[in-house]
Amino acid sequence: LGPRGYEIVIGAGSLAALGHRLRDLARATAAGSLRLGPRALVVGDENTRTYATAVLDGLTAGGFAGDAVLLREGETAKSLTAVATIYDKLASMPADRGTMVVAVGGGVVGDVAGFAAATYARGVPWVVVPTTLLAMVDSAVGGKVGVNHPRGKNLIGAFHQPRAVWIDLTTLGTLPEREYRSGLAEVVKYGVALDAELFDSLEAQAEPLARRDTGALGPVVARCCELKARVVEEDEQETTGRRAVLNYGHTFAHAFEAVAGYGRWLHGEAVAAGMACAARLAVRVGQCPPDVEHRQNRLLARFGLPTRPDGHWLAAAVLEVMRTDKKAVSGRLRFVLPSRLGAAALVERVDERAVIAVLHEIHGDPPHESP
Ligand SMILES: NC(=O)c1ccc[n+]([C@@H]2O[C@H](COP(=O)([O-])OP(=O)(O)OC[C@H]3O[C@@H](n4cnc5c(N)ncnc54)[C@H](O)[C@@H]3O)[C@@H](O)[C@H]2O)c1
Ligand SMILES: [Zn+2]
Repeated sequence: LGPRGYEIVIGAGSLAALGHRLRDLARATAAGSLRLGPRALVVGDENTRTYATAVLDGLTAGGFAGDAVLLREGETAKSLTAVATIYDKLASMPADRGTMVVAVGGGVVGDVAGFAAATYARGVPWVVVPTTLLAMVDSAVGGKVGVNHPRGKNLIGAFHQPRAVWIDLTTLGTLPEREYRSGLAEVVKYGVALDAELFDSLEAQAEPLARRDTGALGPVVARCCELKARVVEEDEQETTGRRAVLNYGHTFAHAFEAVAGYGRWLHGEAVAAGMACAARLAVRVGQCPPDVEHRQNRLLARFGLPTRPDGHWLAAAVLEVMRTDKKAVSGRLRFVLPSRLGAAALVERVDERAVIAVLHEIHGDPPHESP
């Protein structure tokens, strides 16, 4: 990303070392770009308090004057109210344009703290320390930041690349099991949509990955970050459509989340079932051989993830959400579909009847109208 490029550092037990690395980065800041420091504000949530404290101690040791603010945990914290809390803290420090915001937490903390950093004083530098698997492989890389509005998720936001992504794999040790597995769904997504070799290695190491073995996780997280970074490089601000490939499984997933009510399924669980539907759809429209679907679903099942939507959700309701989704164009829907393992592309004008058939088929319902 040229001058907006940054390093992604993956380690284990590395939180305290961030302070020294940032001090080095601050010294190396080229003339003409914003100087970093000497102040930094660490943002965490109630579940990442100990990690935020470790980072803050490291920053102090690295010569920064640090302060911290903790948000409420969970998606409801992705609000303008939380952003205002961060602004207040920055104003009281007082922050200047070199003051760094350091987000320590999952995607929620990253999105909120990143958005505050994008807008305070027309943009201050920020660093992200992701502590959920989803954040490590997805939200921490790419510079999309923002908060929710009562009328829609992520309606308010900006593009603001961090100065660094600092991943400590040992933070995953305290993540609740469902949250961890939910992150694995996004990992499988990268394998199916972008990288067959990654998919092979997930199959080969499913057990150590499921038990969060950092030795197995390191290369996998690194590969996912590389894949995300490559897509972001090609389409930094989502203008060319290239970034759409990262939405594999997500058109179905968003519909499941809406029909079930947000909070019933974790995002990754909805994505897993969404990928199962998308793969079936790809097979049905003749764009993909069936073994892709089988291998994908077997791996998802080994990670304890769902491979079908809840049978009580009416296909018509799911379809209705997809229709009102901005992606639908007059009776035709758009999906990212795999063509083989490691390759997927946006397919325009998918017949709604094929989608309905897939939703019924996946539940073993008797065939309705066949397209
Ligand atoms: N910006 C992007 O490009 C992007 C991409 C994908 C998702 N997102 C956003 O990310 C959010 C979801 O992120 P998430 O899944 O990380 O959710 P999250 O941030 O809510 O974290 C999940 C839960 O785990 C807790 N937690 C975090 N780290 C922990 C740890 N190490 N140990 C114990 N508990 C821990 C959190 O407090 C929370 O309760 C959504 O708002 C989504 O819109 C953004
Ligand atoms: Zn996702």
